[in-house]
Amino acid sequence: METLDAFISGLPKAELHLHIEGSLEPEQMFAFARRNKVALPFRSVEDVRAAYAFSRLQDFLDIYYQGASVLLTEEDFADLALAYFERVAADGASHVELFFDPQTHTGRGLPFQVVADGLLAGMAEAERRWGVTSKLILCFLRHLPEDEALATLAEAEPFLDRIAGVGLDSSEVGFPPAGFQRAYKAAREWGLKLVAHAGEEGPPEYVWEALDVLGVDRIDHGNRALEDPALVSRLARDGMTLTVCPLSNLKLCVVDDLTRHPLKRMLDLGLKATINSDDPAYFGGYLGANWLAVAEKLALSREDLVTLAKNSFTGSFLSPDEIVRHTAAVDAHAATTREDGP
Ligand code: HPA
Ligand code: ZN
Repeated sequence: METLDAFISGLPKAELHLHIEGSLEPEQMFAFARRNKVALPFRSVEDVRAAYAFSRLQDFLDIYYQGASVLLTEEDFADLALAYFERVAADGASHVELFFDPQTHTGRGLPFQVVADGLLAGMAEAERRWGVTSKLILCFLRHLPEDEALATLAEAEPFLDRIAGVGLDSSEVGFPPAGFQRAYKAAREWGLKLVAHAGEEGPPEYVWEALDVLGVDRIDHGNRALEDPALVSRLARDGMTLTVCPLSNLKLCVVDDLTRHPLKRMLDLGLKATINSDDPAYFGGYLGANWLAVAEKLALSREDLVTLAKNSFTGSFLSPDEIVRHTAAVDAHAATTREDGP
């Protein structure tokens, strides 16, 4: 019988919730700092790892924005993306929809174009090397004013053919989705897909707002939607994709133990959940580690795993033809394995 590990790594899958700045490993942070002659407040890689003890989202965000300060050139962004894609390709991913936070970089003086061109170059090279396709999602920082989100969208205009959608991230509580109604309306008019972080730390009302005020195509996280039965019905009825991030939820204390993670409950409620890594360098594991952790701790069946893999493609922004091709590959993998469960 094939091991669970081998079954998961061979299962075709997509990652739909990955902040590329959150893939910056401590070793890379030092390498970029050296290359760019940037001073870091840490003496060693061990020092950096020791700082990765978070009790809530904001603890992480403070260190995540600080880490990003070592990224200065197009080459840095290309190298960052390529290092991430090498890892996710090894985990058996065939497609990624990655977030980037342009305001984290333009706010410290980098041109938007340096960030976007670097990431796009890394994405193209990853497709050549490992066959992993990808799409880019521009995230607005919700702790900043909506006018700055609109200005960022204007800077993105020359890249509209290479950006798939917009998202909303950073500090959630106190910054509800409704504050970005104009930015999302503008993005929709430009033909962009819409996603937003909601219900990670924020209440179910934020998920309602993401749906009804912003009109999102996907909800990022969505854990706290489970507190509201009417919201659960709505999400299930709409087949709304939730990009769930198990190891992130554990590290940021959204759940206290993975055995109590709501992913299995979401599936049983008919919600279209997916497994993702969020900020893998900070949260202790890339895509494969997230899959293995929940498969083991929640005793997921192979049927659950196949459902999750298919959800990752049907919830993606790939074309209907591409989705059919990927879900057929999931079925083909499932058919090559024995039926008697993990
Ligand atoms: N939540 C909100 N903002 C973020 C996250 C997250 O998990 N990761 C990077 N920015
Ligand atoms: Zn996130």
